[in-house]
Amino acid sequence: PKTFDFVIAANRLPVDQNTDDEGNVTISRSPGGLVTAMESVMRGREGAAWIGWAGETGEAPEPFEDNDMYLVPIGLSDDEHVDYYEGFSNDSIWPLYHDVIVPATFKRRWRTAYERVNQRFAQKIADLAAPEATVWVHDYQLQLAPAMVRELRPDVRIGWFNHIPFPPVELFMQLPGREDLLWGLLGADFLGFQRSADAENFLRACRRLLHVRVRGDVVHHGDGRTTRAAAVPISIDSHDVYALAHSDAVRERAAQIRKDLGNPKKLLLGVDRLDYTKGIRHRLKAYGELLAEGTLDPADVTLVQVATPSRERLQAYRTLRGQVEQTVGQINGEHSPIGSPAVTYMHRSFPREEMIALFVAADVALVTPLRDGMNLVAKEYVTCCADDGALVLSEFTGAATELARGSFLCNPHDIRSLKKTIMAAIEAPEKERRSQMRRLRKVVLDNDVQKWAGHFLAALEAAPERPAS
Ligand code: G6P
Repeated sequence: PKTFDFVIAANRLPVDQNTDDEGNVTISRSPGGLVTAMESVMRGREGAAWIGWAGETGEAPEPFEDNDMYLVPIGLSDDEHVDYYEGFSNDSIWPLYHDVIVPATFKRRWRTAYERVNQRFAQKIADLAAPEATVWVHDYQLQLAPAMVRELRPDVRIGWFNHIPFPPVELFMQLPGREDLLWGLLGADFLGFQRSADAENFLRACRRLLHVRVRGDVVHHGDGRTTRAAAVPISIDSHDVYALAHSDAVRERAAQIRKDLGNPKKLLLGVDRLDYTKGIRHRLKAYGELLAEGTLDPADVTLVQVATPSRERLQAYRTLRGQVEQTVGQINGEHSPIGSPAVTYMHRSFPREEMIALFVAADVALVTPLRDGMNLVAKEYVTCCADDGALVLSEFTGAATELARGSFLCNPHDIRSLKKTIMAAIEAPEKERRSQMRRLRKVVLDNDVQKWAGHFLAALEAAPERPAS
């Protein structure tokens, strides 16, 4: 059987397969930052395979190639989709790891399914990895897999990267099976996190709940084995994105977008998955109040909000959608002049070129999550936007670690802070905006996703050899 020197596993493949009633299969791009980043790392890489779910329940489709990547689907049954994916991953872990912006729900059945699916991923990894291969596991859906792979294949090197925050131990402690989860992660040689605060939270949880010895950023398991946990902040393929943003086609499209919106003096932009972590409601509230008070004039300013559909069967996401759509309707009802809405709201996904054209067109990007592991939209915007663009950025994003200087930082929980910061970004003198944007762009161009992957893999390579068990 075919084996690979470099195997990555993430809950999702970079593309979803969609089968219609006649059995015709079409392929669409998966949403989210993980795919944005890892696609650039994987495309064209020799001897590499990506294991993940292909987006439809039922038996796993055959491995296939797409965009110069070798993709190996994992099957999920309808029940596993409900219990492992929607349940434990997205109704227990996701809210808990994002500061319980909505309450986390726990069900025993969910945890069992999570274990079973993690075991399935581990088995597939073990089957596909060549001797002494490098295995890179991704994100919160697969926290048990590292130890399971270790058990099956002690010869491979195992890294894990968390794309989302890792919570303070006081929150983490709520999770049923929390010790198992930590031991699951400790099966890896190296664990990467977005911020050092996330790595520290993890190390603290190990010390407190497993009573293992932690020296610096290394966990000593007690049997001679160790695991290192450190920050390796993720990025985008910034040079590629920059080139696209400066292509004639995208420039023309950006100009057309501005024209279609009635050539506003200020075009504000929000781009998010429709998720309660993203702070979309708070953002709309702040914008609506600025219009209502007359601080902003709807004749001068317009907001484009792209909200990519996400996890649509989960109640918290349905509730959010209702609230967002009601607020958009309210703002437009109260403030829109004929022919130019105060908010242009789009609940669908767009091709990459169209998104980049929006970034080019926007005067101010509003990246205001209540909590976010990194937020690659912030990095995409500063790479693409005009030289005098402005970034309003939440303090609660991983991106704020690198982009604090040069952006307009806000506390999105505080509507007053949000309003003040939006106005500061709109009113900042051009000279200031230019010098800030120059700085931000340099940070992202100097630290692209290839460099990130290089750092992660170097740290994984540098992990000490494991003593034979
Ligand atoms: C975030 C997560 C990813 C996830 C993506 C989309 O970026 O870190 O693991 O794939 O959201 O969410 P979904 O549930 O649709 O895969």
